[in-house]
Amino acid sequence: TYPIIFDTDPGVDDAQAIAIALRHPGIDLLGMTTTYGNVDVETATHNALLLSELAGRDIPVAQGAAAPMVKARHPAPAHIHGANGLGDMPLPAVKGRADPRSAAQFIVDTVDSRPGEVTLVAVGPLGNLAAALQLDPSITGKVKQVVIMGGSIREGGNVSPVAEANMFNDPDAAARTLTAGWPLVLVGLDVTHRCVLTPAHMARIEAGQGELGRILAGSYAFYRDFYQEALGIDGCCPHDSCALAWLLRPDLFETRRGHLTVPTSGDAEGQTIFAPEGRAFIESRWARTPLVEVCMGVDGQAVSDWIADTL
Ligand code: BDR
Ligand code: CA
Repeated sequence: TYPIIFDTDPGVDDAQAIAIALRHPGIDLLGMTTTYGNVDVETATHNALLLSELAGRDIPVAQGAAAPMVKARHPAPAHIHGANGLGDMPLPAVKGRADPRSAAQFIVDTVDSRPGEVTLVAVGPLGNLAAALQLDPSITGKVKQVVIMGGSIREGGNVSPVAEANMFNDPDAAARTLTAGWPLVLVGLDVTHRCVLTPAHMARIEAGQGELGRILAGSYAFYRDFYQEALGIDGCCPHDSCALAWLLRPDLFETRRGHLTVPTSGDAEGQTIFAPEGRAFIESRWARTPLVEVCMGVDGQAVSDWIADTL
């Protein structure tokens, strides 16, 4: 099993991924850390606690970044995930409380308690991982690996023509996190846009998950309208679940090694510029960052089926 910390901004597709992290026998969910992104950070924390309770679990949730590190915060457009992050579904009250520590402190403490074992799976803007790096730069040698949903190599962006939302929402944090020199894989739009969670998948998930299933299905119905308009597909891209699919079913993905650069301002703000390993460029600066892996291909049907089968 993989001991993981799940860093998240729930968020409809985050909620689906959280349900997988709570249910999959191959995952030991040590805690969730929350960030602003799809919603403000308080709402993200509320939703993480709620989803854990609905699954009958008591997972620590530590609250983190309320805004980007440097640039001004863009409020998330409520028509994508709903004002409450879960498609404006009426939600039951939450009983638990957040861990008193900051997300970054929680990450540092948890990784320290199990050196070499913990995988960080981050599916929101990367302020918490950047803050953990600041608190303890040696964390890069103590994590097992870092799996990030974000970025786009060839697919283009979903916020700007070149930038994916999690990168665009905190490009400074993204630049620090993607070039920190830890074992890292980027699961971006190149693969998540090839996966579609269909209404038939969601009907199976709803039937199998009780009250949690009702909330996943209701928020999915809301999110689906956005995909119909934006991409013309009948269903939703399960972006954040793809990070967990990569962890548990890497055989379904193709990856390449290379160097990433993230511009933090200007028209290319939040783009993930990828220089493949071994390719010579006349300008050498693109190959100076530490090597990482990026996902370039996926069996999208198999990943989407895996999500529904898991839930
Ligand atoms: C990413 O942005 C968020 O809206 C989703 O939850 C996902 O993490 C996709 O670009
Ligand atoms: Ca997310």
